[in-house]
Amino acid sequence: MKQMHTWIFVPGSDPKKLEKVEQLLSDAVIFDLEDAVPAQEKALARRLVKEELQHVPRQGTPARYVRVNAVDTPFFEQDVKGIDGVGLRGVVLPKAEDVQSVARLDALLDQLPGTENGVDGGQDRRVEIVPLIESARGLFHAYEIARASKRIKRLMFGSIDFALDIQAELTPEGQELLYARSQLVVVSRAAGIGAPIDAVFPNFRDKDGLIRETQRAKQLGFQGKLLIHPCQIGPVREVFIPSREEIVEAELIVASYQEALAAGIGSIQVRGRMVDAPVYERAKRVVEEVSHLINTKEKSDERK
Ligand code: COA
Ligand code: MG
Repeated sequence: MKQMHTWIFVPGSDPKKLEKVEQLLSDAVIFDLEDAVPAQEKALARRLVKEELQHVPRQGTPARYVRVNAVDTPFFEQDVKGIDGVGLRGVVLPKAEDVQSVARLDALLDQLPGTENGVDGGQDRRVEIVPLIESARGLFHAYEIARASKRIKRLMFGSIDFALDIQAELTPEGQELLYARSQLVVVSRAAGIGAPIDAVFPNFRDKDGLIRETQRAKQLGFQGKLLIHPCQIGPVREVFIPSREEIVEAELIVASYQEALAAGIGSIQVRGRMVDAPVYERAKRVVEEVSHLINTKEKSDERK
């Protein structure tokens, strides 16, 4: 599965920001109908987002998701019924706390006309569900939630609501969130879905802070991060894509180990470091991710 590193929220009620979506260089955009939209603007946001989803997105533009309001709000059902459209890749489900809420969304999506046509080039064209885990209950049930629908390919973490719920104090180091973050990584793996997407970093002027938090999330096993401002896309992408040194090292490991395997040797050294099967697997992933990035870039260059 392709790794998706950058996911930017765009408030659904803000036409000026919606206009910019096609130019954003993120892997995904999330049209927000929830927290970024006040109650009196919900209907407007629904209409604007629906319009956005009507036109087929150009190749190479961000995959399009919609964050609906939570299942127990009066907005949920209308939100879901209003979001059919050719351009829809998935629905982000906030305050996901149990299997039942996923099942309700799943059933509504089954009934929506047109949504099977999610514009993924891959096999599974059904609209994705992305549960946003942001409460103690949600975290406690995260494994069952992850397995609650075939539509689920990854989880997301909402740190601000989560901290509020467990009465933790948010700090720049994020020690108070370590357990939740690691739990989401482990649960996702155990459930056989992709790695999770980390929470937003609200202070968008603090680039160094964003980079530090993104590095920590990557180290823990996250595949990407939620963003709120276009200036966060570049730095987060940089953290997640392998550096030149990592690529060179990975290519060397892969080549050396394949040679060793052909000679019937299962453990070698490369530049003073032991390389055995798991080290080789890790290096192979880096090489695969890079070739995927190059292929995607060539395809989008061809279209220019
Ligand atoms: N999506 C698309 N465009 C965005 C954007 C976003 N999330 N955030 C900012 N921009 C645009 C602005 O419209 C502005 O465009 P302009 O240069 O043509 O005027 C440009 O980027 C620079 O923005 P800036 O002036 O620095 O910020 P702002 O005051 O317009 O917006 C926020 C700041 C925080 C209100 C805005 O980034 C935002 O709404 N983020 C998403 C909030 C959200 O969805 N929250 C819910 C999830 S936590
Ligand atoms: Mg929230």
